Amino acid sequence: MIRKRRPVVALASDHAGLEMKRRLLEAMEEWGYEVRDLGPIAAGSVDYPDYAEAVAERVSSGQAEAGVLVCGTGAGMAIAANKFPGVRAAVLYDDFTARHARLHNDANIAVFGARTMAAGEVVARLRIFLEEPFEKGRHASRVSKIEDIEKRLGRQA
Ligand code: RB5
Repeated sequence: MIRKRRPVVALASDHAGLEMKRRLLEAMEEWGYEVRDLGPIAAGSVDYPDYAEAVAERVSSGQAEAGVLVCGTGAGMAIAANKFPGVRAAVLYDDFTARHARLHNDANIAVFGARTMAAGEVVARLRIFLEEPFEKGRHASRVSKIEDIEKRLGRQA
């Protein structure tokens, strides 16, 4: 029997996002994704750039199809992750943004704020993000322009 490979999703948080990360891990496993939990595994203060790097590196290199990051607000994780070539990390502050970050921006990392968003809403929002396709068309040439910027800066994936 030929089995289709399950999509790989890299997941991490900082201490502020730890509990929400657990909820998202559980949900994604239930939905059939192959989740790489890149930590942290225990409570205790950590630095969000270390975890943003772990997820962004896997998405940038193609080891994961998508990434999910959680910190207090989502801001720090998004700032750090977007330093990586080919990474398009978006803070998904509502469902409309989750849908359009995929449709229009081909976002490949979903970022959430555990101190600013309700966990139940975030679980549903993540599913929108993971299932919505990129619309391509006129949006593809706009995303290409982002890649052009990376090339000009010498940061190609
Ligand atoms: C940690 O206290 C907090 O700074 C972090 O979770 C995040 O919100 C940073 O952007």
